[in-house]
Amino acid sequence: MSRVGRGLRVLVTGGAGFLGSHIVDALVARGDRVLVVDDLSTGDRANLNEAADLRVADISDMSGLGRVLAGDHVHAVVHCAAKTKVVESMEREDLYRRVIVEGTDNVVELARQMGATDFINISTGGSIYGETPVCADETVPVDPQSNYGRFKAQAERVVARSTLRSITMRLANIYGPRQRRDLEGGVIAIFIGCWKRREPITIFGDGGYQRDYVYVGDVAEAVMTALRSDHEGTYNIGTGVATSVNDLVSALTAVLGPPPGVRRAPPRSAELRRGCVDPSKAARDRLWSPRTDLAEGLRMTARAEGALGPA
Ligand SMILES: NC(=O)c1ccc[n+]([C@@H]2O[C@H](COP(=O)([O-])OP(=O)(O)OC[C@H]3O[C@@H](n4cnc5c(N)ncnc54)[C@H](O)[C@@H]3O)[C@@H](O)[C@H]2O)c1
Repeated sequence: MSRVGRGLRVLVTGGAGFLGSHIVDALVARGDRVLVVDDLSTGDRANLNEAADLRVADISDMSGLGRVLAGDHVHAVVHCAAKTKVVESMEREDLYRRVIVEGTDNVVELARQMGATDFINISTGGSIYGETPVCADETVPVDPQSNYGRFKAQAERVVARSTLRSITMRLANIYGPRQRRDLEGGVIAIFIGCWKRREPITIFGDGGYQRDYVYVGDVAEAVMTALRSDHEGTYNIGTGVATSVNDLVSALTAVLGPPPGVRRAPPRSAELRRGCVDPSKAARDRLWSPRTDLAEGLRMTARAEGALGPA
């Protein structure tokens, strides 16, 4: 099926979640027709674009998937559904294996049954490379430190083995509107929530932990381009810039004023010191480059979350 010149029909798994819902919005805005499979375990109907067609199902249950999608055809699948919490993955290994590895296997099989030719697999850069003193490019051997990262690496292999044209995107730490504020949800969402409610922020350890923060709209753009491209293989999607928690607080202070208060807490065990991905392969192959710098992304997120007045 031609990928150029007309709307695509796309299945987005996890489309009611944080990242998935932004991808759905971008697809709808482009005139594509969107089917969503989500079990709403961490996603929310309120995130979902009205034009999307939601089917509630668990990706680890193949017969349930078959029931809700019987007779549907799609051109492409964007696979975002996953359990995503690193600490929880150590306590609930079976659940994480079932959803991430078996779930991905099911979604690949479903893609085939639904006539898809293209598959975008959303993976993790932050949890797959381990400690990255230098921002990791795609040639760095994976060294996952958690069950979450280990199963995401296995899911990547499931996708690579399929006969579909596939791209695996290893994402840095995403931030932006609609991100959940649970403790593992993302420090930017948590901090902006504190600023908004005038509550103190908590900084673990010395605040020197560094992460690569990529704006959710830029990630959605990478997926849009990938769907219409002929690229294949593994691509890091991040900024190549590692920002410490202390620098993040300074950047937020520039947008929102000083934090309402700062609490110090002991370092969290087994947390990576530095996580950063090198996105230059995506730029070299003319697939994607990050567009939104941290200051602008923080401003857009704070505004969307009601922590900052209108522009
Ligand atoms: N947020 C980040 O910083 C980040 C970084 C790297 C990779 N990722 C990846 O991006 C993807 C989306 O993550 P997110 O941050 O938007 O999290 P999220 O929890 O908001 O989204 C996950 C979605 O998948 C759904 N889901 C979970 N288990 C399911 C199941 N068994 N069947 C059907 N649906 C199920 C949830 O209800 C939710 O809507 C995940 O694959 C995650 O591993 C996220």
